[in-house]
Amino acid sequence: MNSDGEFVLSDAEFEKIKKRIYQIAGISLSDAKKTLVLSRLAKLLRQNRLPGFNEYLDFLDTRGTHDDHQQFVNALTTNLTRFYREDHHFDHLCQSIGELIARDVPMSRGGKRLRLWSAGCSTGQEPYTMAMALMAAHPVLKSWDFKILATDVDTEVVARAATGVYSESELAGLSKERLAPFEPMSDGRVRIPQNLKSLVTFKPLNLLHEWPVKGPFDAIFCRNVTIYFDKPTQRNVFERFHQVLKPGGHLYIGHSENIGTGVTGFRSVGKTIYCNSVPQDKRAVA
Ligand SMILES: C[S@@+](CC[C@H](N)C(=O)[O-])C[C@H]1O[C@@H](n2cnc3c(N)ncnc32)[C@H](O)[C@@H]1O
Repeated sequence: MNSDGEFVLSDAEFEKIKKRIYQIAGISLSDAKKTLVLSRLAKLLRQNRLPGFNEYLDFLDTRGTHDDHQQFVNALTTNLTRFYREDHHFDHLCQSIGELIARDVPMSRGGKRLRLWSAGCSTGQEPYTMAMALMAAHPVLKSWDFKILATDVDTEVVARAATGVYSESELAGLSKERLAPFEPMSDGRVRIPQNLKSLVTFKPLNLLHEWPVKGPFDAIFCRNVTIYFDKPTQRNVFERFHQVLKPGGHLYIGHSENIGTGVTGFRSVGKTIYCNSVPQDKRAVA
């Protein structure tokens, strides 16, 4: 039993919470997260004037609105991120897109097409880094039909990401060169310039549900997201990424993740970088 002085979370209640978040978002909470869960959900109990966790779970089941269920999910996600996190991925991205630019990509109505996806984008630092790094390395992309889709199951972080506004502390450790694109605001914060912001479309999306995405993508970043999933859920998500990734396109995952055995069609091409090695016409039998 854990207590924050005001509320007590029993083992049975914690089990119910674990089961619920796993069913909704695939997130497997370890027992070590019990105190964290207690403190994160306590504010929702207070907000709804509920005396305890059993009453809160009952409230969700009987009277909870869509918003109440979403707040439950938002409270239990881990959103740690930063600009240029695991920066070797951005070097690789710039290099591989450079190779694509050097090849003759067919022209379509909106220009030459480039599609990237940041799946589990948290507060936006990852997709904005993709935009900043690529535009700095390949200014020619200005004339391309270039779009980045950025999605997350947590609606609060998606809304924050879409503002493109960050505090100075969120830029800590960035070199002068990497700081250059950020626009200072009068209140001391910074914002992503409009030309980069307009490349990114933010949307709430649960990776366990349908993906209303067009694709095919040239690259997918899904980093430090599947670490919270169990093996079958990870495998399912990676297999689905393969379906929406272009042949020769790349999947980037987090430093402590791996795509495991049994997921076919990917070739490891670097540290936590995988290439879709199955030609388009062979996909049906892959
Ligand atoms: C630790 S952050 C990683 C952010 C960024 N990708 C990075 O590496 O810096 C993990 C993100 O995955 C999201 N997430 C967890 N389960 C998810 C799911 N089922 N569908 C979509 N996003 C999910 C969380 O909301 C959180 O924002």
